Amino acid sequence: MTKTTVLILLGPPGAGKGTQARMLEEQFGLVQLSTGDLLRAAVAAGTDAGKQAKAVMESGGLVSDEIVLAILKDRMAAPDMEKGAILDGFPRTAKQAEALDALLAEIGMGLGAAISLEVDDEAMVERVSGRYTCANCGEGYHDLYKKPAVNGVCDKCGATEFKRRSDDNAETVSARLAAYHEQTAPLISYYEGKGALRRVDAMGDIDRIAEDLAAIVKDVAA
Ligand code: AP5
Repeated sequence: MTKTTVLILLGPPGAGKGTQARMLEEQFGLVQLSTGDLLRAAVAAGTDAGKQAKAVMESGGLVSDEIVLAILKDRMAAPDMEKGAILDGFPRTAKQAEALDALLAEIGMGLGAAISLEVDDEAMVERVSGRYTCANCGEGYHDLYKKPAVNGVCDKCGATEFKRRSDDNAETVSARLAAYHEQTAPLISYYEGKGALRRVDAMGDIDRIAEDLAAIVKDVAA
């Protein structure tokens, strides 16, 4: 793995961006950078950006490019980014994609690939509504598809508290899917035009999808 590889995971809510980004982080030492997680942290901390983002996130819309770009630039400036990064949930608009191009050029990092996780929308509501995470370490689980080995105990850290996201309800997921198709899906053509797009069938077994992604990471790092 080169020090400067940046990968983008594109896909609608529930496509498995977070699940797969965490697996790639463990396997390759890349840093998972989720703008959703950064925004939720800003909301929890009650910062000005968090206060502005809260209502938008609860409605399923997209937070303004200005807020997201400011948060992303701060995070990208951290020293651990030298290991390379997996962008999970960013970019989501044409303006964000253009700003990312400029930022990568400025800090001397290269785009390894933009990977489109291809899924059926109908399955996404069930995936998102069944999701929960460990309240201690953030490991992700699902009521049906990814249960802890011991019921009620996190596989990763042994904690027994779990939480669910307030935007993971059927109504908000529909709005998030609509926002994805309207504003984010066009980025698939944007990256295809740059010759950076890879497509992965993201329906089916989580470990099989992880293998497909690992093969891409190895390929772009070679
Ligand atoms: P964000 O946190 O990025 O949410 P999202 O894009 O809607 O994606 P999710 O986290 O819901 O899904 P995921 O693809 O990570 O799926 P996961 O791996 O968890 O954004 C939230 C909000 O923040 C946005 O709505 C917006 O308001 C704002 N925001 C964030 N970034 C922004 C930006 N750049 N610009 C503007 N606004 C922004 O998987 C889901 C579940 O399915 C899990 O339980 C998992 O275990 C399970 N699962 C995963 N893979 C499989 C599989 N193959 N088979 C069965 N189950 C699976």
